[in-house]
Parts: sequence; C-alpha cells; structure tokens
Amino acid sequence: MCGIVGYLGKEKALDIILASLKRLEYRGYDSWGFVVYNGKKIFLKKVVGKITEAENIAGVQNGFVGIGHTRWATHGKVSENNAHPHFDCQQKIFLVHNGIIENYDLLKEKLLNKGHKFNSETDTEVICHLLEDYKKKFKNLKQAVLETLKELRGSFALVIFDKDNPELLIGVRLASPLILGVGEKEFILASDLLPINLVGQKFIALNDEEIVFVTKKDFEIKNFTNQQKLYLFQEIRWGQEDIEKGDFPDFMIKEIFETPRAVRNTLKGRLLSDEVKLGGIELLGDKLNKISKIVLTGCGTAYYAGLVGKYVFEELTDFQIEIDVASELRYRNYKFDDKTALIAISQSGETADTLEVIKEAKKKNIITLGIVNVPGSSISRIVDAGIFTYAGPERAVASTKAYYSQITALIMLAIFLGLRRKLSRSEAKNILEELKTIPEKQEKILNLESEIIKIASDLTKSRSMLYLGRKFNYPVALEGALKMKEIAYIHAEAYPGGEMKHGPLALVEHDFPVVFINPHDSLYSKSLSNIEEIKARGAKVITITDDINCHFEENFIFVHHTLELLTPLLTTLPLHLLAYHTAKLLNRNIDRPRNLAKSVTVE
Ligand code: M6R
Repeated sequence: MCGIVGYLGKEKALDIILASLKRLEYRGYDSWGFVVYNGKKIFLKKVVGKITEAENIAGVQNGFVGIGHTRWATHGKVSENNAHPHFDCQQKIFLVHNGIIENYDLLKEKLLNKGHKFNSETDTEVICHLLEDYKKKFKNLKQAVLETLKELRGSFALVIFDKDNPELLIGVRLASPLILGVGEKEFILASDLLPINLVGQKFIALNDEEIVFVTKKDFEIKNFTNQQKLYLFQEIRWGQEDIEKGDFPDFMIKEIFETPRAVRNTLKGRLLSDEVKLGGIELLGDKLNKISKIVLTGCGTAYYAGLVGKYVFEELTDFQIEIDVASELRYRNYKFDDKTALIAISQSGETADTLEVIKEAKKKNIITLGIVNVPGSSISRIVDAGIFTYAGPERAVASTKAYYSQITALIMLAIFLGLRRKLSRSEAKNILEELKTIPEKQEKILNLESEIIKIASDLTKSRSMLYLGRKFNYPVALEGALKMKEIAYIHAEAYPGGEMKHGPLALVEHDFPVVFINPHDSLYSKSLSNIEEIKARGAKVITITDDINCHFEENFIFVHHTLELLTPLLTTLPLHLLAYHTAKLLNRNIDRPRNLAKSVTVE
C-alpha cells in the first residue's frame, strides 16, 4: 500500500521524486524517503512524518536519477530505518518496494548466516542483499535481478538503482502495480498514474511478471525468464488541474464538489434516447445471453455502490443477484457456475481482495466485468470487459466522487442488460431521461453546504451515531456511516430502518444522533413510522428527504425528487458533506485519516 517512484532523465530527479511522492502520499504516509544520484554523489534521505521539502532536502543536490517511496507500514514499525529506500551492505544497490515478501524470514536467516548486515526490520531489505550476492556472482545487475526474482514469494513492485550502473533504472512488477511513463528523453516509474504526467502523457502499464530496464535513451520490457515482451502505449486523459487541490482546503471536498462532473463523464457518449452504448461490454456478444446470475463484489465504498447496484439489477433485470465484500467472497466456498457473471467494482483497480476474487472467477471460466476508475490498473486489464467510470483522479483516502460514477455505471449496465431481457424501451427511456438530470440536482445539493455545516457542528461532541435507510437507501446509510467513522473518527453504525426494533433501538436515548435517509419512495411511510419510533425515545433525527413538508422537522436536508432507483445518487451527497464538515470541525486530517491508505494492494 505504499507508493514508489523512480526517475531517469534530465537532471531534475529530486524535483520529480518529491513532486511524485506528494502525489502518491495518499497510498501511505507514515514515513518516506528517496535516493538521488548526480554522477558523483548519492543523496539518501529517510524521514518519519509528512512529506515536506525545505527542511528535509537541505544539502541534497539535483541529479539525473533517483528513486522514492512513501510508506504505509506492514513489516516493521514506523521509523527512519524502516523507511525506504533500502540498501545492500555496500550501500550501492538501493530499492523501493510496494507489496509483501512472504518468505522474507527464511531469506533473511540465510543472508544473516552469510554475514549480511541488516539495517531495518522490513521484509524488503532481503531483496537488496540477495541482489548484492547475485551481482557479485554474475558481475551483471540484470542477471542479478532475474536470479533474485526466482527466490521471492509474495507481491511486489520494485524500482532498483545501482551506483555501479547509474544509467540503468529497473522496475519489476508482480501483483503490485507499476506504470512506466515515457517522456522526451526522460522516464518515470510509479505505482500509479498520478506522477506520470510530470514527464508526459504517454504510459505503459506493466503486467505481472514483467521487468522494465530503463536507460537514458530507451527502455525494454522483459518477462521473468528474460524474454522480450510487447507493450501497449496508453495516454492519460486528465490534466494538471485534475490532480491539484486548487483553491480547496482538502482533496476530499474538492472531489465531493467534482461529483456532478464525474457523473457527466461517466454518462458521456454512452446514452441514446432509449438505450445505452457500452462498447466494452458489447464485444462480449452472445456470451451475454447465457448469463442468468450476477455476483457483485468490491470493498468499502465500492462495495456499497455495488449494494445499490444489487437493488437496481433486481428492479431492471431478471437475473439472480448476489453480492459480497471481496475480502469474504475470496475465501468462501462459492460455487460459480458457467451462467454467472462477476461484476467487480473498484476505484483504484488495484484492491488486492477484489483482484483475487476476479482471479478465482477466471479460473472457473466465468465472465468477469469490471467497473473501474483508473485506466491501466490491474483490474481493468484482467477482466473480460468493463466500464471505465472516468470520474477523474481521486486522491483523498475517503472515496466520494468515484462512488457516484460507480452507481451510474451500474445503472447503465443494468439498463443495457435489462433491455435484452425484461426491460422495455419506454422504461429505459424514462430512467435515462431522469439520469441525465442528476448532475444538476447534485449541484443544488452542493449549494446546501452552510446548512450542513450547522448540522455538523451539533455532531462534534457525539461519540456514536446511527444511520438508517431502507431498500435503495440502506447502502446509502452504510456509506454515510463509513465516512463518519473514517474521517471524523465518530463511531457510526448503519441499519436498515426496519431492523431497529430487533436490537439497535436500545441504543437510542436523549439526543442520540440518528441520520435517517427517507426520500419519497416505496417505503416512505414505513420509514416515517420508524422515525416516529426513534423520536419517541428522544433521538435527535437528521432527515435526508425530498419531502417539502419536512420543513417542519428540526434537522433535515432537502434533496430534489428523483426516481427511487436513482435516489442514492442524491441522498449520499449530504452525508459525504456531513462527514467532511464534522471532521473538519474536529480538526481531523481529512485526506489522510489515521491508519488508512487509499489503495489496499495487500491483504
Ligand atoms: O480502490 P477501491 O475502490 O477498490 O477501494 C475500495 C476501498 O478500499 C475504498 O472504497 C475504501 O473503503 C475507502 N477508504 C472508503 O472511503
């Protein structure tokens, strides 16, 4: 879950490494470090804490090559020694690593017996010492890398620099992402796309078991058995403003405000008056006709988007629908049959659990579809077909705009598949017309920020909260509660409104905050009774509704009316704002909540 980077090019390695680490910081932020080489001297820095420039780079000169790392600790506590880059006994071979070396303890014992001196408690450092041994044996760094890889078990993306081969930068990928960015006589290697446009718009996403050897002029990609590999250039679709905070204080709020644009981008070029065009999915042709069951999966917020998808698919199609979080599904004895299609949802496209479920499904030859935001990501490349959500880069650890795009993509997919089965064109037309109005309605909710701040200021002293919703808005309750926990650190639980009587009602006492998502839908009046029930016990109820009569309620947030199945696209937005502003008033580190990283690329 760390971020790694390497640069070889035009004497500005330090600038590029620091700028890249800032962009990758969301992947891990407990410590960081870099190595820069200028042809004469190595500059090595390891720092615990925030990536700041001035105080930590005093005395460091720019160079033409460098590697950097931002860490989210897995093996070994947070300390300078455990921060990357790690190095061999001679301090010549330096490397940065994202992933886990599962057999590091055995390797370490062997290396210690041979007399190697370790400088850290990490799993990563064994790689440096193995490289040192093999380099000595073969007098060739490339060969040393190939031999070392034979010994490693686990998942890793590596960038390697050797002082004896300073014009060669080596990137390795096995089950952890690594992208090569290609500029004008300069190259960058990075864990994801965000740093790539520091050198240009062109990139190649490495596949598993690939190594890239980068020199100042060129590069070549080989597999782990040293055979040449073909590659595909892709182009980044976003610009500088998409990855900077601009005038916003945090990425999270910037991304919440980008929601209408994200949804527009997801819809762009895909809607006809009464049908949906999904190029990638269409390529599956007749295979789609044999599907009778859909299994949805994802983690965290992506899973909740999937849960909304479950209700949507049940409404618009006649498939049997199942859903589970990827971290459970991957270990269940789930019987995928050949009539099943798996839909995996992921913003990053790198979440390890989600990726594993897809791999399992592929072994059983079932159709795998991805709803993914990041082009070139592992999930987007492994699935049979999919829909890119095009929400733009999401940098805050808390996922927001991507969620709306995921739901939008799922609705489009349900319509696309539904039209081949039970859904009529006029029903599709009706939904699509309403779907087009969603971004505008979202903009109106974003204007309610000051009302939401008032409600948030009442929540800052709360130790615990409940979020309730029914049917399409039960996943919304789950998502609202997740965000409140994740960034405000307030304990929040979500329940389907109808479940209160079966236990959680006992929690309710005077002034206990309960957020109830209650648009005018098929369960509206039942939810009203649930609200009365909790109010009678003294709860402070915050209602999210499209009912104008709700003006009589003390705390309510008004959202515009829409079709029942589209309500989550509106009702979640006040909850994202509510969590954000509560966290802000509590002075939390919003973009970097404690203990969390954005892309969970390890188990
Ligand atoms: O990149 P993914 O969408 O696969 O990530 C899934 C979860 O890790 C992610 O949604 C996580 O729950 C967020 N921190 C929630 O805000």
